Amino acid sequence: MIDLKKVIAGYSPDTAEIESVRKLSDDLMSKIREYCRIHGINADPLLVGSSSRGTSLRGADIDIFIRFKRSYGIREMEKLGLEIGHYVLMEGVEKYAEHPYVSSNEFGRKVDVVPCFMIDNATERITAVDRTPLHSEYLKTHLTDQQKDEVKLLKLFMRKQGIYGSELKTNGFSGYVTELLIVNYGSFLSAITHISNLKGKLVIGEPEATGKFASPVIIIDPTDQQRNAGAAVSLTALSILKLCGKTFLREPSESYFGMEPDKKPSKNVDRGTIFYIIRLKRPEIVDDIIFPQVQKMISSITRASKEYSFNIINSEYSVEDEIQVLLELETDILPEVKLHSGPPVESDNVIPFLEKNSGNDVMRGPYVIDGRIYVELKNSMNVYDQALAKILENADLGKHINKMKGEFKIQRYKGKLPDLKVSINFLSKRNPN
Ligand code: CTP
Ligand code: MG
Repeated sequence: MIDLKKVIAGYSPDTAEIESVRKLSDDLMSKIREYCRIHGINADPLLVGSSSRGTSLRGADIDIFIRFKRSYGIREMEKLGLEIGHYVLMEGVEKYAEHPYVSSNEFGRKVDVVPCFMIDNATERITAVDRTPLHSEYLKTHLTDQQKDEVKLLKLFMRKQGIYGSELKTNGFSGYVTELLIVNYGSFLSAITHISNLKGKLVIGEPEATGKFASPVIIIDPTDQQRNAGAAVSLTALSILKLCGKTFLREPSESYFGMEPDKKPSKNVDRGTIFYIIRLKRPEIVDDIIFPQVQKMISSITRASKEYSFNIINSEYSVEDEIQVLLELETDILPEVKLHSGPPVESDNVIPFLEKNSGNDVMRGPYVIDGRIYVELKNSMNVYDQALAKILENADLGKHINKMKGEFKIQRYKGKLPDLKVSINFLSKRNPN
């Protein structure tokens, strides 16, 4: 039997950490109160997020919201919110989710100061973050102390598989969704048992509310029947949870819990394939913008490569100071001839097809097999170097990456992968981790 109590203890903040989080957040909140009093601002700070409800793991961030009276205009609230944020977080930088807030690193811990409107009911909501205090309110009365530990187990289980976090970098389960799963299923084991046996979507909520959503995970936010709290979860993340639930229940092990996936690369051996790696400097934009753009870049390249008959069998990326995109191809040199299939001979299109395919690039034909006409053409794009250059030149790779086209470094590798971050990501991809 594995000792889940030990797992929880190993990753929970100890009393010293709880005390220092309490002190830091109390200090920041009294500074906010003082600033509001002096400047006659009608707003109140509130600690929200996992640190406020005993569901945080070691090193978790501190989320402080400043709740403004609804009589403030939205622009005024944003402006004052940033002003207060900068006042209490001297080293803070402005970030933008759906609206601006200030974020900083205080003694090694991330602190966000987020302005919002004070509401009693989600229907009064003006900005997307106005509900967040209602989440804390709801969970206060719906999670027992034992269940807070169950939340931590579920977070650790998801973190180990790389599916925790609703950011576009991860497309996984948010902290709040994890908490709602425990509210609904009661415990870590029952959540995992249920999800691992699930066929199809994960749906929690009344049918009238869930019916209008289509994503793989539909979990109605109990504080707002109009919102799917699970909207960010991808099919891949849900499927990884189903799979790892099954393998964990078959053979439970403490190795299923951790703060992040282990990077245990498979052996770097010649796979008989060809790798292309594109490298560029990361533009200075936030994760939630750059990650989807890199993903979009890969799907554009894959699609366009297919049009030139190059089959990209795998792809991977790494986004740090540098963006690295890896493409794996069966082959990067195609025959010089390519078969071009035409319409059935009975079709009205057969004459236009003959007229169109009568130039110098015809290597053989046209000829007929069964009911259809074919011609063999010279493939002038049969070397991937050239095809890729053309693809990159013409493709829409997203606003920010488009601007950097001139700075791409492209390398071809046959045999082993080079010593790069993206190679480690490629070789370590594994679930269950
Ligand atoms: N929130 C939300 N939906 C998101 C992200 C955040 O509703 N996609 C709200 C939740 O109420 C959440 C709070 O904002 O509790 C703070 O967000 P975050 O720090 O990302 O999550 P935590 O619940 O604090 O979890 P963690 O332990 O990972 O910090
Ligand atoms: Mg948090």
